[in-house]
Amino acid sequence: MEAFDVVIIGAGAAGLMCAISAGRRGRRVLVLDHADSPGKKILISGGGRCNFTNREVRAENFLSGNRHFARSALARYRPEDFIALLQRHGIAWHEKTLGQLFCDGSARQVVAMLLAECEAAGVTLRCNCPVTDIGRSDRFRIETATGSVTASSLVLATGGLSIPKMGATGFAHEVAARFDLALTPIRPALVPLTFGGEDGAVMHALSGVALPVAATYGRTRFKEALLFTHRGLSGPAILQISSYWREGEPIALELLPDATRLLLERKRARPRAEARTVLGELLPTRLAQALAERHLPSQEIGNIPDRPLRQLGDLLGGWRLTPSGTEGYAKAEVTGGGIDTTGLSSRTMESTTVPGLFAIGEAVDVTGWLGGYNFQWAWASGWVAGEAA
Ligand code: FDA
Repeated sequence: MEAFDVVIIGAGAAGLMCAISAGRRGRRVLVLDHADSPGKKILISGGGRCNFTNREVRAENFLSGNRHFARSALARYRPEDFIALLQRHGIAWHEKTLGQLFCDGSARQVVAMLLAECEAAGVTLRCNCPVTDIGRSDRFRIETATGSVTASSLVLATGGLSIPKMGATGFAHEVAARFDLALTPIRPALVPLTFGGEDGAVMHALSGVALPVAATYGRTRFKEALLFTHRGLSGPAILQISSYWREGEPIALELLPDATRLLLERKRARPRAEARTVLGELLPTRLAQALAERHLPSQEIGNIPDRPLRQLGDLLGGWRLTPSGTEGYAKAEVTGGGIDTTGLSSRTMESTTVPGLFAIGEAVDVTGWLGGYNFQWAWASGWVAGEAA
C-alpha cells in the first residue's frame, strides 16, 4: 500500500492548485481523477481562452450561506498572485470588460502551466483512476481502481454537477455527507432561464436577438447583455441573475432606461413618424417589431395617445416576468450550494469536525459571479488548503 501525506481527489482548477501549494511545502502529494486527463473545464472555459480571474475580487462577488466565508482565502491568494504565476510562464493575457482577464492564446496554456508546476513540486497525478471507497482510522485509506493508498490529509476537489456529460459528479458532496459534514441545497447556477406560455412564445420568436439590459431579482441587479433563446433568456445579465433566482419568483428586465421620456419626446419632435419606426431606433429591430405589434396601433406616433406610450414605456423600464425554470446542470456554468461552510475553517478549508479532511473549489457552498470569480475561488481555496494539508 502506497503512503502519501496528501491525497487530492479531482484534478481540476482547485485540486491542481492545492497540489502545487502542498507539493512546494515538501508534502508527498497524489492527485486522483476519474477522467482521462486533468483540467477539462479549464480547457472549455471562457470560450477556450479561460477567463482565469477578475481584477477586482471581493467576497461580495460570491453567493454563500456565509457571505464572509470566502474573504480569508481570497485575501491570501489574490488575482495578482495568479497573474504573477502566468507571467513566470510567459503566458500573455488581456482584460476584457468588467475586469475580466483572459489568455491571449489558449486555455491549454493554463493547464500546461499547472501541470508543469505540479511536476516541479513533485506531485504524482493519476488520471483514469476512479475512487471506489474511502475509510478512515488514524489515516485516510483511499481505494482506487489501481490499488489502495493512505494519506494523513484528504482533499475533496471534484467540483459540482454542472455539465454531467463531461463527467461532473456529486462525489465530493457524497463523501462529505458520509463524514457527517453538512450540505446546503444545490442548484444549477449561471444558467439560462426558461419561460412558458405567451412570454416563452415571444422569446422563441426573438431567438438570437441581443441587447444591453438591467436584470433585477429582489435587490440584486446586473447591467449586462441579454440574449433571447429558443427556450427563454440567456446572456451574461440572465446568467448572473439566475444564481440568485428562486423557483416561482419573478425577475424584472429594464430593456430601455428612460423609455417613457424617450417615446414622448419623439412623439413631440416627429409626430409623422411611424410608431414602430421610432421604436426600431431605440431597440433591436426584431424586438421593436414584436413589441409594436403587441402594444401599439400601426400608425403615426403623433396619433397615438400618451397613455399606451406610457404603458409601453413602463414595460420597457421594468418587464416583470416569471421563469418556468432553468436549463439545468446540462447548461449551468456552475453548481450553487454544496458543502456547508459552517463545517469548514475559512483559513484552511479543513473540516472542523474531521481533522485532515479538506474541501475546496466548486464543491463548497461558495458560488462566484460570472467573470473569472469562480476560478479565483478555485485557485484561492486550493492554495490555502495546500498550505495546511
Ligand atoms: P472542476 O470541475 O474544475 O474539477 C473537478 C475535477 O474532479 C475534474 O477534473 C473531474 O474530472 C474530477 N472528478 C469529478 N468527479 C470525480 C470522481 N467521482 N472521482 C474522481 N474525479 C472526479 N469560471 C471562471 O471563473 N471563468 C470562466 O471562464 C469559466 N468558464 C466556464 C465555462 C464552462 C462551459 C463551464 C462549465 C464552467 C466555467 N467556469 C468558469 C466555472 C469553472 O470551470 C469552475 O468553477 C471551476 O472549474 C471549478 O473548479 P474545481 O476544481 O472546483 O472543479
